[in-house]
Amino acid sequence: MPSMAQNGRVTTDFKQSNQAHNSNAFARREEIRQQRESLPIASVKERLIEEVKKHDVLIIVGETGSGKTTQIPQFLFSAGFCREGKSVGITQPRRVAAVTVAKRVAEECGVELGQKVGYSIRFDDRTSGVTRIKYMTDGLLLREALLDPYLSRYSVVIVDEAHERTVHTDVLLGLLKNVQKARLKSKLIIMSASLDARVFSEYFGGARAVHIQGRQHPVDILYTLYPEKDYVDAALVTIFQIHLEERHGDILVFLTGQEEIEAVERLVQERLRQLPESNRKLVTVPIFSSLPSEQQMRVFMPAPDGHLVLATNIAETSVTIPGIKFVIDPGFVKARSYDPAKGMESLIIIPTSKAQALQRSGRAGREGPGKCFRLYPESEFEKLEDSTKPEIKRCNLANVILQLKALGVDDIFGFDFIEKPSRAAIVKSLEHLFLLGALTDDCKLSDPVGHQMARLPLDPIYSKALILASQFNCLEEMLITVAMLSVDSVFYAPREKLDESRTAAKCFASPDGDHITLINVYRAAEDLLEKRKWVPHTERNEKIFKAKSEKIFKRWCKENFINGRSVRHARDIHSQIRGHVEQMGLRITSCGDDMLQFRRCLAASFFINAALKQPEGNYRAFGTGQVVQIHPSSVLFQSKVECVVFNEMVQTTNKYIRNVTRIEYMWLTELAPHYYTMQS
Ligand code: CDP
Ligand code: MG
Repeated sequence: MPSMAQNGRVTTDFKQSNQAHNSNAFARREEIRQQRESLPIASVKERLIEEVKKHDVLIIVGETGSGKTTQIPQFLFSAGFCREGKSVGITQPRRVAAVTVAKRVAEECGVELGQKVGYSIRFDDRTSGVTRIKYMTDGLLLREALLDPYLSRYSVVIVDEAHERTVHTDVLLGLLKNVQKARLKSKLIIMSASLDARVFSEYFGGARAVHIQGRQHPVDILYTLYPEKDYVDAALVTIFQIHLEERHGDILVFLTGQEEIEAVERLVQERLRQLPESNRKLVTVPIFSSLPSEQQMRVFMPAPDGHLVLATNIAETSVTIPGIKFVIDPGFVKARSYDPAKGMESLIIIPTSKAQALQRSGRAGREGPGKCFRLYPESEFEKLEDSTKPEIKRCNLANVILQLKALGVDDIFGFDFIEKPSRAAIVKSLEHLFLLGALTDDCKLSDPVGHQMARLPLDPIYSKALILASQFNCLEEMLITVAMLSVDSVFYAPREKLDESRTAAKCFASPDGDHITLINVYRAAEDLLEKRKWVPHTERNEKIFKAKSEKIFKRWCKENFINGRSVRHARDIHSQIRGHVEQMGLRITSCGDDMLQFRRCLAASFFINAALKQPEGNYRAFGTGQVVQIHPSSVLFQSKVECVVFNEMVQTTNKYIRNVTRIEYMWLTELAPHYYTMQS
């Protein structure tokens, strides 16, 4: 019978493809097994396990790529450290690293992600009750400590990439130092790629440090003869020089952030199109923190004609990218900087340290001899700082203090930090929290506002904005705003299409400012992706609709110079924070068309960042007295509004404020009298 024949054939096909699949999977498993066995760390497995058994606090130092992050948790699992339902928890300073490493380790273990091996980062949790090896960001483990101060579900806590000295790593180390003695039978491991383990060892009372011998091939370092005026342009020239002159090998370029990476990606694509067909195959792969995880993994996929990896300093040590032969290092990094006198945090682009430059060039010599092109003269290298200043010394501490307070650490000045932030910075941040209403007169967390703020995984000023918004009846709008402010640049403006992109952005622009403009973009995207009134709900329709709306969304993004990646990320964040505020019992309502109400809420929330127009055309920030200008990307650029609130200050040649909304000066004294009477 025909149908039986058909059935029969289908089954055979299935069997064949299954066999093919099996043999592929077998080859892949074999490849992974060989890769793992050849890692420098494989030969010291037993010794490492012994060291962990012997010491409650252990420091492990090893060259990037030696296998610390992926292998050590597996060693500990197999040595029985995960008995009685306990887990190994590994922190990473960066989201991308937590995700990519967890995926890799799940594959190495032959399990599905989220089962034995999982990850958890802010706004994205892939773990379950059976997860025993859990990768997470350092910030997330700090949050867990709020609910479980002894981190008792972990038999081993591994603080990885400790040399990065992020503010969360430093606080976590302080916390763990406090509780380690009470963490019965629990282990603490600190891992670092920097050879100098002394600082960690001394902090933990002379803790044992072990070194893993790495393998490094020679890397030729090349410098430019003269300083480069435009490092992006210099990087582009170098990329094409390598692409056209050298035969094989992937290129890794260190850039400072998402915007820069995406701009270079577009410029590279454009120049590739001008080359002869045979030279056009260069797969560009961006990699930065806020990149969605499926795209992060592209860096590990094969590209026969070569990868061009455009990365932030993530690729210095956190993520080991295989196959890199050429490194292009412009010598800059985006870093947080905090001025306690003015209470102002800003992102600035600064030269890397010597340690960073060395880490970067090292990436070229993992699998064979390589080359590193430093886009500055050799004499400049000598002038670089030896190592990067720990983040805790250059950031606003409000967030950290809020968390420490929530953990019951009331005496911030007496807290045993690995490196103490300045007294001035602590005082200023306490003042900041006090102004936001998070602290009482005697510096305790206020009830309920302070406690609510500590529960939200956001900057304190955003948490406060959400709490206030529920009183101003515009929480729906504020949720969107906070989500959009939490992602990188929603609009992009390619240099060569500046006018076009500005015209496109005008369709969303609100004369009141950027916050409402961001809401307009979000709602327009939501309409495209979700409005489906015209189709009946069936599974098939759903699929068709999804595919269609994705396509429409992509085209819409392109036409309007909108970064689809950022908007999707914002939608994700939105749904998560919405969950949090619902749990907290806040009322989610919309102010509808009454944007006046929303702007008043912005003024009440961001009053610390308000600025007034000066006769000569600049603005003066109230709190700090600094002279600032509205950033060219703002819809209020070159407008004549008198008084504004803003969210961010960036410093290039000028001091710019970004994400700006028009308010009435009088609102400030009405809505934030505690600040505006204090100032006068
Ligand atoms: O932590 P460490 O820098 O010592 O090394 P690792 O991250 O454990 O990486 C060990 C090896 O795994 C490297 O050779 C990487 O290329 C490889 N790896 C990979 O193929 N895919 C990943 N997602 C992560 C690592
Ligand atoms: Mg690592």
